Amino acid sequence: MTQQTTSVLPGFKLGKFDISPPLALAPMAGITDLPFRRICRRFGIGLTVTEMIASRAVEFGCERTERMAELDKDESPVSIQIAGSDCKYVVDAALWAVDHGADFVDINMGCPVKKVVKQVAGSAMLRDEGLVARVIDAVVKAVDIPVTLKIRTGWDSESKNVENIAHIAEDNGIQMLTVHGRTRAQMFSGKASWEDIGLAKAAVSIPVIGNGDIVDGESALEMIRQSGCDGIMVGRAVQGNPWILEQVHAAIMGLPKPEKPNAEEVWDVVHEHMLHLADFHGVKRASKLVRKHVPWYSKGHRGSAEFRSSFQTVFDWNAQIETAKAYFLSDIHHEETGERGLDVAV
Ligand SMILES: Cc1cc2nc3c(=O)[nH]c(=O)nc-3n(C[C@H](O)[C@H](O)[C@H](O)COP(=O)(O)O)c2cc1C
Repeated sequence: MTQQTTSVLPGFKLGKFDISPPLALAPMAGITDLPFRRICRRFGIGLTVTEMIASRAVEFGCERTERMAELDKDESPVSIQIAGSDCKYVVDAALWAVDHGADFVDINMGCPVKKVVKQVAGSAMLRDEGLVARVIDAVVKAVDIPVTLKIRTGWDSESKNVENIAHIAEDNGIQMLTVHGRTRAQMFSGKASWEDIGLAKAAVSIPVIGNGDIVDGESALEMIRQSGCDGIMVGRAVQGNPWILEQVHAAIMGLPKPEKPNAEEVWDVVHEHMLHLADFHGVKRASKLVRKHVPWYSKGHRGSAEFRSSFQTVFDWNAQIETAKAYFLSDIHHEETGERGLDVAV
């Protein structure tokens, strides 16, 4: 008998692409490189976004910037995210993104980092609605692919302008809006306001993606209920736990809750992630990056604290693989004896 499913979110069209499921991996600088996105694509997402690429960095044309825009041949639909407030440089960066195979160009007006804000880019642009309109208009007119926008709800609680920005975005040709439900002043503290995401949704007819504090299928459904958003974007909770994407995917598609991964499945993903990092960045750099990524996977597992500190003392690539393998597969023993070692928070 085939199972009847009722999708909570139907998905939507963006240019010639179906965003289905309407579930995106959030762009995260220093994290969502090609290897990370490759891993996450196994878990039912409908859209990936590169890390933010500063338009001035594109102008300098360094190797590192080129690598940030590298996409897998079958990675589609995918956005390249750009940032900046000088129309000339932002337009050049958008055209460069098209040349690099982006399906969409995403403009960042949410980054709260001081270095970015000081140049009146990222979330600082929300304080100048005229500038927001000019930059969007210039990019939309320059490229022939859909342009999307990612914002916060405003600069601070006194100057929230999420509805105004949503209107400006739609009026100037933005085809999809992502709202992180925090102001710049909040940085990453406090709770994301899913109701504020709802204000943007009610203001426009373009698809609105809700973002902020999604940690499982239940929180995704609650965000949809509170905001009426058309799609979900998940960021920090995916670090070391891509199974969360599977959970959110199942929830929004009306599918049964997936099983927790067993020890072998966790190790397979950790191992594959390590190999992708080495393949993409080279072993020397991968060896540094795994010190960040691999300990994240141990969160919630037996002996995680000890593993995290001991893993930081291993520098040789093969030893890093062996140490991680021994740790993650040690949970098989506990599974066989009925003592559940894995407690991945999915
Ligand atoms: C380390 C880190 C880097 C980030 N880099 C970017 C970025 O490059 N572009 C962007 O639009 N947002 C960036 N963000 C914000 C996330 O995309 C997302 O909006 C935010 O983390 C809230 O979602 P979450 O609660 O699901 O993590 C970053 C967040 C973190 C934690």
